[in-house]
Amino acid sequence: MREQDLLKDAFLEFSRASESVIAYYSLLEKKIEGLKKEIEEKNRELEKTKEYLSTILDSLPLAVVVTEKGKILFFNKRADELDALHLIQKITFNGKKGGEFKKGGYSYRWKKETLKDRTNGAEIIVVEDVTEVEKMKERLEIDERMKAMGEMALRIAHEIKNPLSSMELFASILLKESMDERHKTYIEHICVGIKNIDRIVNNLLSYTKPKALSLKKGKLSSVVREVLDFLSLSLEQKGIVVSFHEKERETTVFDPHLMKLVLMNLLVNAKDALPEGGKIEIRLEQREDHTILLVSDNGIGMSEEVKKNIFNPFFTTKDRGVGLGLFIVYNIIKAHNGIIEVESEIDKGTRFTIHLPSNGL
Ligand SMILES: Nc1ncnc2c1ncn2[C@@H]1O[C@H](COP(=O)(O)OP(=O)(O)O)[C@@H](O)[C@H]1O
Ligand SMILES: [Mg+2]
Repeated sequence: MREQDLLKDAFLEFSRASESVIAYYSLLEKKIEGLKKEIEEKNRELEKTKEYLSTILDSLPLAVVVTEKGKILFFNKRADELDALHLIQKITFNGKKGGEFKKGGYSYRWKKETLKDRTNGAEIIVVEDVTEVEKMKERLEIDERMKAMGEMALRIAHEIKNPLSSMELFASILLKESMDERHKTYIEHICVGIKNIDRIVNNLLSYTKPKALSLKKGKLSSVVREVLDFLSLSLEQKGIVVSFHEKERETTVFDPHLMKLVLMNLLVNAKDALPEGGKIEIRLEQREDHTILLVSDNGIGMSEEVKKNIFNPFFTTKDRGVGLGLFIVYNIIKAHNGIIEVESEIDKGTRFTIHLPSNGL
C-alpha cells in the first residue's frame, strides 16, 4: 500500500512537472516568435540603411571601392563608370597610399586607407576626377606666363618705337636733301622697312592690351561666315573641306573686328596644319551663359612641348612664321573675359575651344 502511494505521488509529481514544461515551452515558443519578428524588423531596417547608404555612395562624384586581401567587397556606381575596378587591382598591390593618373583625357587622384575597425585588412580606395582642377591650374599658369610675356613684349615694343621714330625722321630729311636717284631709292627702301617694323610694333602694342573693345551685340555665326567667305578660295585650292555647324540661339556681346582676327588666325593655322588637304570643322554651341566656338582640324597636330608654348609671343615652328597669331588670339579672348583651350595629338589633329560669356564683361 505504501508503495502504491509512493507511485501515485510520483505520477502526480511527474504530471505537474510535465505540465509546467509544456507551459514553459509555449511561453518559449511565444518568445521565439517575438524574437523572430524583432529580427525580421531589424533586418528590414538594416536593408533600408544599406539602401540609403548605397544611394548616398552612388550619388557621390567620387569612385569608392572597398577591398579585402585584394578582393573587391564593394564598389559604387562612379567606380563602375570609371572602370576603377580594373585600376584598383594595380593600386592594391603597388603598396602606395595615393597618387595620380590620366585616362582618356581625364585626370584622376586616388587615396587608399585601411579600415580601422576591421582586422582582416580591408581597405577603402577613393578615386576623384580632378580634370577641371588640373585644367584650372594649367589656365592660371598660362595666365601668369602670358602676363609676364605681355609686359615684356610691351616694354620691348616701346623701346623699339623711340629709335625707330628718329630713324624715320632722319631718313625723311635725307630724302628731301638733293641726292642722286639711286640713293633716293635706297632711302625709300629704308622708309618702307621702317614702316613695316612700325606696323608690327603697333600691332603688338594694340593686341597685347586691347584697351577699348568696340563691343556689339550680335551672332558669332555672322563673323564665322564672313571669315569663311574670305578664306574659301585658298582653302579650296588646298583641298580642304570646311564644315560649319551652328547651334547658336542667343546673341553674344563681342568686338566683331577682334573676333574676326581670332577666327582668321585659327583658320590660317588650321590650314597650315593641313599641307595635304583635310578637314576643318567649326562649331558654335550655346550654353546657358556662354557661347562655345570650336575650331578643329585633322592635321599634323602638335607635341606636348609645342602645345605648352603656342600662346607665347614669337613662338613658331614654321619656317616663315612670326609666332604672334595665337598670342594675339589669347589676349583678345582674355579681353572678352573668355577662355581658350587646346587639345592636340600628333598626326590626329588639333581642336581649339573658346568660351565667350554671352553678356560680354
Ligand atoms: N591647328 C594647329 N595645328 C598644329 N599646330 C598648330 C596649330 N595652330 C597653331 N599651331 C602651332 O602653334 C604655333 C604658333 O602659332 P601662331 O601663334 O599662329 O604663329 P605662326 O602661325 O606664325 O607660327 C605654330 O607655329 C604651330 O606650331
Ligand atoms: Mg599663325
